[in-house]
Amino acid sequence: MAKVIATISLKGGVGKTTVTAGLAEYMSAEFGQRVLLIDLDSQINLTTMMISEERWLELNTNGRTLATLFSDAVKGTRYFRLDEAVERGVSPVKKVNSVDLLASSLDLIEVQEDLSALRVEGRVPNGGTGFLREAIEPVLDFYDYVLIDCPPNIGPITLNGLAAADAYIIPTIPDVLSTYGIPQIQTRVRKIGHEIGRTIVELGVVITKYKANSAVHRSTAMRLRRDPTIQHVLPSYINEANSVAAAAEFTSYGTLRVKYGNQGQFDQFRGLTMDVMTEAQEKIR
Ligand SMILES: Nc1ncnc2c1ncn2[C@@H]1O[C@H](COP(=O)(O)OP(=O)(O)O)[C@@H](O)[C@H]1O
Ligand SMILES: [Mg+2]
Repeated sequence: MAKVIATISLKGGVGKTTVTAGLAEYMSAEFGQRVLLIDLDSQINLTTMMISEERWLELNTNGRTLATLFSDAVKGTRYFRLDEAVERGVSPVKKVNSVDLLASSLDLIEVQEDLSALRVEGRVPNGGTGFLREAIEPVLDFYDYVLIDCPPNIGPITLNGLAAADAYIIPTIPDVLSTYGIPQIQTRVRKIGHEIGRTIVELGVVITKYKANSAVHRSTAMRLRRDPTIQHVLPSYINEANSVAAAAEFTSYGTLRVKYGNQGQFDQFRGLTMDVMTEAQEKIR
C-alpha cells in the first residue's frame, strides 16, 4: 500500500512544487520507487513540470484532469475515469521511469468555489473532504508513494489533499514571512484528522531556497530547529540555485545531475528524498 504524503504551505513561492517534483523524480530514478504525483494546485505548475503544455491542453480538453473529479462531486455527474486520467511515465528526465501523474487544471478555480458552497451548506459527508481519497483508493497498491501538491491555502481542495494523506511535509524558506503560517497548518491538519477519524502525521519542515550567506536564513533555520512545536526539521536543506530554478522548465534531461545541478544540488535533493522516505517508513504505519 502506497504511503501518501501531502506537501503543504500557506505561502506561495516557497518551493513547494519544486520539492514535490524533485522528490518524485529522485524516488523513481535513485530508489526505484513507483510514484503517483497528484497536482491539486490550479496554477498547474507541477503538471507542466512533468508533461508539456500541449499534452496538458489535450488532457484538459478531454476532461482527464482532477477538475473533472471535483466537478463530478459538485454536480453529481460521473465523468471522471481514474484509469484514463492517470498519465503514465511522466517527467522530462530520461532516467525517471516510474512516475505517473494526475494532472491539475485551471478550471479547479471555479470548481473550488462550488465545493466551498457545498461544504458551507453541509450537503456532503465529511464536509466534502473525501472525494480524492475515494478516487485514488483503487490504485494505492500499485505505488510505493503518492505525493500530493496542495494549493497554498486551506480551501476545500487542500482539505481533500490532506484527507487523502497519511502524512505531510511543510516546505518553507527560512525567513519570517514564510515560516509564519506553520502553526496554522499544524492546527488545521490536526482538525482535519479529527474530522476524518485518523491522524495525519507531520513528517517535518523542509528548508528550501536556503542561502547559507544570509544571516536571516541561518538564524531562522536555527530557530525552527529549536522550536518545540515544530515536530522536526529535516536535516537536508535545498539551497537556492539557478539550476533548481531552471528545473521548472519542461525540457528533456538525461539525468537528475544534469537537471538539478552538480554543485551539491544533486546530493541535497537525494539527501532530502532519503530523509522523507526514512521519516515515512518510521512514522506511517
Ligand atoms: N531551490 C531553489 N532555488 C532557486 N529557485 C527555486 C528553488 N526552488 C524553487 N525555485 C523557484 O522559485 C519559484 C517558486 O517555486 P515553486 O516550487 O513553484 O513554489 P511554490 O510551489 O511554493 O509556489 C519557481 O520559479 C521555482 O523555479
Ligand atoms: Mg506550487
